[in-house]
Amino acid sequence: MNKPRIVVIGSLNMDIVVETSRFPRVGETLTGEHVHFIPGGKGANQAVAAARLGGQTTMIGSIGDDMFGKSLIEYLNQDAISTDHIKRIADTPTGIASITLAESDNRIVVIPGANAKCLPEHIQALEQVISEHDIVLVQLEIPLETASAACELAKKLGKTVILNPAPARKLPESMLKCVDYITPNRLELETLTGIDASGDQLQTAMEALLEMGPSCVVTTLGEEGSAFLHKGESLVKVSAYHVPVVDTTGAGDAYNGGLAYALAAGYALNEAVVFASKVSAMSVTKLGAQAGMPTQADLNKLSIQ
Ligand code: RIB
Repeated sequence: MNKPRIVVIGSLNMDIVVETSRFPRVGETLTGEHVHFIPGGKGANQAVAAARLGGQTTMIGSIGDDMFGKSLIEYLNQDAISTDHIKRIADTPTGIASITLAESDNRIVVIPGANAKCLPEHIQALEQVISEHDIVLVQLEIPLETASAACELAKKLGKTVILNPAPARKLPESMLKCVDYITPNRLELETLTGIDASGDQLQTAMEALLEMGPSCVVTTLGEEGSAFLHKGESLVKVSAYHVPVVDTTGAGDAYNGGLAYALAAGYALNEAVVFASKVSAMSVTKLGAQAGMPTQADLNKLSIQ
């Protein structure tokens, strides 16, 4: 059987992760416990998630001409991800995320570096490569015009397009019309629509987003699970799996990589959403975004509820 083929167009970062007992107050200096250099970036994390599950995965993006960039490529190659179309940008640093882990949560500051130089021309030159995949998975840690060009090209090629609108920003309808599945969390949904998506308002906000163009909205709701909505149909909610949490960094990326894999493998949407929830739950049981991405064997052997 052919492997599901997923191409991810997005960011690569080196995550500098500091573990500390609590978040520092403004102006305060704290002594932390550990520091780790862990591969990250929403795009690369989603590529690793899809690849570990068994997808034939290609990563498209940009790194700097430095040691971090070299190391990020090596990590992706360990998961057999095609890195042939990751551009090395001269005189530019690789993207960095400064992540503080404390109080069972995280705070992240991203310096885009080379990700900001991932340009539409780079994507447009890869029409042939993109056409060889089933699913095109895009996020917003690269310039908006590049993410938009990626969605438009993928749509022109008749591919299924998943847009993870993170970090959130207002998006043009011309871009949203090219998207099959958009996967905001609750806050991103609010940014996209301007509607408070708490409580009963969730469906109203998802309907408003559907009106902007995508065929389906899948909203991730943290501990409450996720929900999906097609135009004219009822909202479907799927429960979350509950697991011991070590690090939630990359949980959304695991969800998106899992969803892309499952849809490319031919799962129906309701099954794909349950599968993505399981992948996301498993990912938080380990430290580090990419380190936590599970294989199919991990999903089978760990009993989670
Ligand atoms: O979604 C988690 C990711 O966001 C981290 O790996 C970090 O690089 C930031 O991009």
